[in-house]
Amino acid sequence: MALKLEPGARLVVATHNPGKARELAQILENRFQLVAAGELGLPEPDETEQTFVGNALLKARAAAEASGLIALADDSGLSVAALEGQPGVYSARWAGPGRDFTVAMRKVEERLEEVESRDLAAWFTSALAVAWPGGPAVVVEGRVDGTLTFPPRGDRGFGYDPIFIPEGHAETFGEMDPAAKDRMSHRARAFEKLKAALL
Ligand code: IMP
Repeated sequence: MALKLEPGARLVVATHNPGKARELAQILENRFQLVAAGELGLPEPDETEQTFVGNALLKARAAAEASGLIALADDSGLSVAALEGQPGVYSARWAGPGRDFTVAMRKVEERLEEVESRDLAAWFTSALAVAWPGGPAVVVEGRVDGTLTFPPRGDRGFGYDPIFIPEGHAETFGEMDPAAKDRMSHRARAFEKLKAALL
């Protein structure tokens, strides 16, 4: 089986978030018919792996097996050098059941105070996986490096954006024009690699 995606192919996006499915469709230049896992009533697997690549693969494989369609999944998060890469794959979970990223960002600041580190280096990672039902899978990773800043600044982004200043810039992802963020983000970089591999 050739690991190429034909234009117009029907892909299931292993996200239960319709916003994410739309964002993925835009990045894939509307080349494919994207169906959200939620629309097909597919179960959401637990993200039990310790790496972004592992969780993206787990989600893509589960959706491909359950739907019989080629599946695309992502996993992403913030890693802080002085915290040995935390929150990492636990980025969403640090925000608690209320998904409150004010709480998650404060937790990052508190943990940095606990370890008494002045090292504010951090990076966002996005892993993207495509899996064929009963067959192979392709996974890629994109990363953007930067520095943390406290208190949080800007309300134009989401998640940890207000505390992250990408390398070579002065504004946080939360302050930056979203289109500018989209051009340099970990997700954009992962998509470039995925397109190179599959299109
Ligand atoms: P996922 O949905 O399991 O991939 O969770 C990723 C989590 O990482 C999100 O809930 C965000 O908190 C965080 N994250 C990933 N990408 C970004 C980003 O571009 N900006 C801010 N936070 C992000």
